[in-house]
Amino acid sequence: MNTKISASILSADFSRLGEELKNAEKAGCDMIHFDVMDGHFVPNLSYGIPVLKSVRHCCAIPFDVHLMITDPMSYIDAFADAGADHITFHAEAVSDPRAVIDKIRSRGLTAGISVKPKTPVETVFPFIDLVDMALIMTVEPGFGGQGFIPDTLEKIAALRKEADQKGVPLDIEVDGGIGFNTAPKVRAAGANVLVSGSYIFRSEDMPAAVASLRR
Ligand code: DX5
Ligand code: ZN
Repeated sequence: MNTKISASILSADFSRLGEELKNAEKAGCDMIHFDVMDGHFVPNLSYGIPVLKSVRHCCAIPFDVHLMITDPMSYIDAFADAGADHITFHAEAVSDPRAVIDKIRSRGLTAGISVKPKTPVETVFPFIDLVDMALIMTVEPGFGGQGFIPDTLEKIAALRKEADQKGVPLDIEVDGGIGFNTAPKVRAAGANVLVSGSYIFRSEDMPAAVASLRR
């Protein structure tokens, strides 16, 4: 499976966000990872629909929206209208994941389901043939620049095994603490979509940093 890189703009320079998106695209990133926080599901706030809409035209690569919010269902239409290509929600936030997946797909978007580091990976097993992607958080969601949690490698491997056994070509995304040192470990465990924020946006040479995640 080819490794895809999704650039988390949480670590970008917001005073020149459009330019940062263009740089990420030029550097070889496959997607822009857009972290939405509500101060409730996670203890932080970030940005939302108007920001996404205003920068959508700045690059052509897909917008991978990661909703760290308590009520994802209520905002799917607005993110779809604003130009999202993919929406991932958290399994911990909803009582009926299938309904959220159906709603995302009804808007023509691809769908993802995510679990925090302490949530058992088995939580997503019943949904892997309904989604396009499963996101295993490799840090506690809410902040960029944290250290990778090594215990999450077992969850990635268990999820890849389950997907392979069911014959599901699942994208497994990892998010948090991904850089030069951790990328080979998560790839070996079975992840094929790597979110990276601080590592690529704070590097001196973004194309080299992006390429290093694929090696
Ligand atoms: C954390 C976010 C991540 C974050 C990753 O809650 O979901 O996308 O930006 O940042 P780094 O790559 O700096 O760990
Ligand atoms: Zn994220």
